[in-house]
Parts: sequence; structure tokens; C-alpha cells
Amino acid sequence: MKFTRVRGFQDSFGDDALIVRNVEEYARLWAERYALKEIKIPIVESVDLYRRTTGETSDIVEKQMFTFGDVDEKGATFALRPEGTPGVVRAYMESGLHKRDPEQRFFYSGEMFRRERPQKGRYRQFSQFGVEIFGRRDAACDAELLILLDDLRKDLGLTLRTEINSLGDSACRPAYRTAVLEFGRAHSNELCQDCRQRLERNPLRLLDCKIDAKLMEAAPESLKYLCDDCKEHFDTVQELIVAAGIEFSVNPRLVRGLDYYTRTAFEVLSDDVGSQNAVAAGGRYDGLVEALGGPPIPGIGFAIGLERMALAIRSAAQKKSQESDLAFELFFRKFVGTPPIIAIAPVGSSVLVDANKIAHMLRKGSPQSWKPKERYQVLLLSAERSLNSQLRQAGAIGAQFLVIFGDREQSEGIVQLRELNPAVADDSPKQRRVPIPSLVEEIKNLL
Ligand code: HAM
Repeated sequence: MKFTRVRGFQDSFGDDALIVRNVEEYARLWAERYALKEIKIPIVESVDLYRRTTGETSDIVEKQMFTFGDVDEKGATFALRPEGTPGVVRAYMESGLHKRDPEQRFFYSGEMFRRERPQKGRYRQFSQFGVEIFGRRDAACDAELLILLDDLRKDLGLTLRTEINSLGDSACRPAYRTAVLEFGRAHSNELCQDCRQRLERNPLRLLDCKIDAKLMEAAPESLKYLCDDCKEHFDTVQELIVAAGIEFSVNPRLVRGLDYYTRTAFEVLSDDVGSQNAVAAGGRYDGLVEALGGPPIPGIGFAIGLERMALAIRSAAQKKSQESDLAFELFFRKFVGTPPIIAIAPVGSSVLVDANKIAHMLRKGSPQSWKPKERYQVLLLSAERSLNSQLRQAGAIGAQFLVIFGDREQSEGIVQLRELNPAVADDSPKQRRVPIPSLVEEIKNLL
């Protein structure tokens, strides 16, 4: 074929698409449980916004943004969003919501774009489910987000690790930055090429370099440089999450690749997804609103990488399958379970009108009011296929019922309802005559 996917971009089908969708659905329900409100922001923002927020020296701004050659009427150049936080901060300020009440609690879900080197768990288009809370300086809010992430993790049935750190604030971070800079200068001969270039502009980035990780083990730790306020804040966060029963470890070398973080920063990691192991990450950004010309309103948030979370689910499912079929089934069903399929087989074109009516009768109602037993799928097969071919098709897609409807059934006002259950050993299909008006009831009873 002439056309293929663009490098680093992916198609997603079937179970893979379902897992991502269901993780998003779980995250959405948990976010609503924590009184967060959905915000939708554009997929493009001005390049300048990312420069001012994500940071000039971040990898994202330096080399990963997809930008456009054209400019808009005002001369602005734009980029596909590489992350959600800058757009949410902009929208928060532009809407004037902060004037009504600085405390606003948002969640969002959508695609992000980064020109990274593609590998397992790292794509050029990926989905984030993010949370951003403004107007809360207190440590209880940091703890609340870590607890939310842990609630979601437990609900998904995953084993993950949480690492936290404090990066200090504008009062104490400069001293830490200088300490890392001096450490870097003293070891500049041992640094990788990238780090040597970063050293003077953004020394803290050295700490999350994979190549220099060994050397950086001896680097200064941010926690030793915290001012009293930052220390107290970090202590309170820990006290609160300990009390909530959250397991975590303090990683004094955790810094984030984005420039806006202050105080608490955290990552949720999976040991089962390969080298791209952060399934969620975030932290506080108390100076960001002000940096964009707004009042000094604090902020904090995180984003979950939905595809990476899906990888963690795949490998957890794999482990369960080694335990037992039942353990696998119980774990995996909630991510890929789909409602049972009822296939309708119109035999010959003369029954098409009534077959359509039967399909519509089975489909009717409003999804909001459907009871669990009414959540089935109705597939009207093509009358251009023979009954045998329809039967094979229904079997292949795993339909639970086949409603056979031909001339004879039409004249008698009935259908033949066949149960197709490949798990039944005697493989004699159960088939019964059902009057059309009682078909819905009959199926509900059998489900
Ligand atoms: P981030 O660490 O750049 O933070 O991304 C958050 C998560 O998105 C990562 O932990 C990962 O799961 C996923 N992710 C990032 N890049 C990729 C990629 N190329 N392919 C697949 N998944 C990826 C942020 O974006 C911040 N905006 C988070 C935040 C919100 N901080 C405060 N509020």
C-alpha cells in the first residue's frame, strides 16, 4: 500500500481502544467524585504560550513541538499542544474565572503531540487525562491529588509506585540551583553532550538525564535546601498521605522535565511497561499564573498517560493469566467487556421491512434509562448473505443470540430465537419460537 501511518503515530482497534476508553472513563468518574469540573481547551495554542510556561530550556519547547508554518491574522505561530497545563492556565485567566473565585478545579482529557523518538510507551500522539486545581496553596490539596491517583490505581487493580519530592520555591530554589550548577561545573568533563549544553541554562535538568544518572547520584539533594515554609509544606503532605494509607517513597532526585514546578512534584511508576515507566506525573506550579501576567494564584495538577496506563493493564492481565483463567477473566473483563450481541438474520429481501422493525424494537429506549440487562448490542445482518453465511458471521463475532426471520416466520408473526453459546459442550443449539411482541422480554429473561 502507498499510504502508511506517519512515523510515531498509531492506529488503535478493538481491545486496545477499549482499554484506553475505559481507563479514561474510570478517571473521569473519580475526577467527578473529587468535585472536579471538565474543561475543554483547543488542540492548538500559540508557540509563545509554551515558551513562557513549559519553558525555553525544556526538551518539549527546544525540540519536540509540532509547529505550523503559517501564522494567523495576528501574526501568531501555533503549535499542536504538547501538554495540557499551559492551555488550562491560559483559559482560566482568559475566562476571568479567577476573579470570581480563584479556587477552580478542572479535569481534561485529550490528545497531546510531541516529536519524541518513538518507542514502546512513547508516541508522538498520545492521550492525557489531566487535573489542574487553582487557588489552593495548602498541602491538603497536594495530598488530595495523590489520594485521587491512588484511588484510581486501586480501582483499576494495578500495582504502581508513587515517588514524591519537593523542588522548593522562589525563596529556596535559587540556592539549590546554584549547588547543582556548581556540581555540574565540577564534573563537566564527565557530563553527556546534552547536559554540558544544558548546564548553564538549566542545571536542574541534569538530574533527570538517563545517561548521567550514575554521576548525578552524588549531586546535591533538593530537600536539603528547602526553606522552612517549603519544608513544613512537604512534611504536611507526607503526614496526610501516610494517614490516608498511601504507599510512596521520597525520591530526592525527582525533578520534572517541565520548568514550571515548585514544591511538590510526583510521579506514578509502573515496573511492568519498559523504560517509559511514568504512567502519571505532576506537581505544584505556584508561580505560573503570575508568570503569565496574572495575580499570584497557586496551582497544582497532574496528567495520566492513558496509553501507558493501558500498557500497565495489559501486563497486569498477562500476570493474572499465569495465576488462573478466572483471575484473568475477573481482572480483564472490566476493561474489555462489551455487552452481549444479538444478531438478526433476515432470510431473503422480502422480510427486510419487518426485520428492520424488529431491530428497531430491540434497540429502542434511551441509554440513560437502560437497566444492566438492557445493555445489549443489536446487529442487523445483511439479507444479501445466505442464512448459513449469516450463522457463520454471528458465530465469528461472538453473538450470544441469533434472531432468525424468514418468510415462514413473517407469516406466523414469530421469530426463531437461537442461543449461540460456544462454551456449551453439547453444541446442540437451543432454538425456540418467540412471538415478535414478546421478543424483548424473552431475551431479557435469558440474559
Ligand atoms: P508529563 O510528565 O510531561 O507532564 O506527562 C504526563 C504523562 O503523560 C507522563 O507521565 C506519561 O504517562 C504521559 N506521556 C508523556 N509523554 C508521552 C509520550 N510521548 N507518549 C506517551 N505518553 C506520554 C505533563 O504533561 C504535565 N502537564 C502534567 C501536569 C499537569 N503537571 C501539572 N499539571
